[in-house]
Amino acid sequence: MAGTGIFTEILDGEVYKYYSDGEWRTSSSGKSVAIVNPATRKTQYKVQACTQEEVNKVMEMAKSAQKSWAKTPLWKRAELLHKAAAILKDNKAPIAESLVKEIAKPAKDSVTEVVRSGDLISYCAEEGVRILGEGKFLLSDSFPGNERTKYCLTSKIPLGVVLAIPPFNYPVNLAVSKIAPALIAGNSLVLKPPTQGAVSCLHMVHCFHLAGFPKGLISCITGKGSEIGDFLTMHPAVNCISFTGGDTGISISKKAGMIPLQMELGGKDACIVLEDADLDLVASNIIKGGFSYSGQRCTAVKVVLVMESVADELVEKVKAKVAKLTVGPPEENCDITAVVSESSANFIEGLVMDAKEKGATFCQEYKREGNLIWPLLLDNVRPDMRIAWEEPFGPVLPVLRISSVEEGINHCNASNFGLQGCVFTKDINKAMLISDAMETGTVQINSAPARGPDHFPFQGLKDSGIGSQGVTNSINLMTKVKTTVINLPTPSYSMGDGFISRL
Ligand code: G3H
Repeated sequence: MAGTGIFTEILDGEVYKYYSDGEWRTSSSGKSVAIVNPATRKTQYKVQACTQEEVNKVMEMAKSAQKSWAKTPLWKRAELLHKAAAILKDNKAPIAESLVKEIAKPAKDSVTEVVRSGDLISYCAEEGVRILGEGKFLLSDSFPGNERTKYCLTSKIPLGVVLAIPPFNYPVNLAVSKIAPALIAGNSLVLKPPTQGAVSCLHMVHCFHLAGFPKGLISCITGKGSEIGDFLTMHPAVNCISFTGGDTGISISKKAGMIPLQMELGGKDACIVLEDADLDLVASNIIKGGFSYSGQRCTAVKVVLVMESVADELVEKVKAKVAKLTVGPPEENCDITAVVSESSANFIEGLVMDAKEKGATFCQEYKREGNLIWPLLLDNVRPDMRIAWEEPFGPVLPVLRISSVEEGINHCNASNFGLQGCVFTKDINKAMLISDAMETGTVQINSAPARGPDHFPFQGLKDSGIGSQGVTNSINLMTKVKTTVINLPTPSYSMGDGFISRL
């Protein structure tokens, strides 16, 4: 159970502690932040409301711990990461339980998130050993006007303190996707979990603690974004920010200093369906892509753009599958569970009502109980409806009927988002042309959008983000290139003759 067994020390009465300088602590604020269970709408957990002073302390520790961590052999950093991954996987049950309770993720998916996270950490350790263990050697005579008198050695060095801010929908996985690359590259790490998802993050951090990472290298600070959010992101000790979430990222990017930013800020992933597509395959992918975790994924299918000639058939197939989705508690592994908060449910309802007023065809009756919204397919959606452009982050999916592929591409490209998209056709040549025309970071051919496997590059264009993720790209983003140039008095060629006369 969460907060028991090896996790007892992270709890103080009924409030979870924060992690600083290698110890679990209670905030001097004496205040806590409540985490509401989306399904029951009752307070499930409480976490510390940390102060700005506590943030300062964490930053000071992170700066100093990083100095010696950067001198820790790479193989040793990797060894500790492998250890943390194993502890995390061994303790998947209590961590998954807190995911179920604080973000209403179905039980099976919660376990998958923890296991996937352990695998990500291990992969990152191995990739780090490979790519950080080698550099480049450049010779000057490849550039016009130069002789071979300069040898340039390049290597990757850490940035310093990395601030990681994961979102509520993957609090563990999207935290470790930032933590592991930061650590293997020799950085220290300050984690600010989302409020909902904080307890899962604290359990995950305890696995790193038990693995034996040095004091101060990893910290986890909880509290209200309104009190410590800007203070953290604008803190002078921070050398890199890795953020996943909504448009808060845009304001962070405006306030942050001259530091590398890695951001993923959502999407309106389009699913373009051509006349020759395998409609059974499309329907299954629309269900998986549009409704898993109740549509609360950045990479969810958020608009279907289907050729008019096959639209009726596709809508019928999707409708039949929607009817089979189970709705209810995450503990029972229902497909559709309560969305994360009341305000989120209200926002989704606003989009649905707008579509209703403007004449969309409801394939199911709209039904909501508290934060639980039944899956809904909206057909005949037009571009003047909000749902055609805005991301509901819920189990509501619009279908726009198109009369040409160009119309589909234009709709996709008119979005302010550009995360992923997908195209269904049996014609690979057409698929490639459409992929090239779509202004998104990734295009999936004949499958729903998805970030994983976690080592694939993952990036968004436009308002969907800055920088690229995926294990290798994250390690590279969290390092800087350092060069040393050896200047020789005379040109020198390996195995060249006459060197003795030049000595
Ligand atoms: O919600 C944003 C995530 O990066 C999506 O990840 O494609 O594995 O669901 P996923």
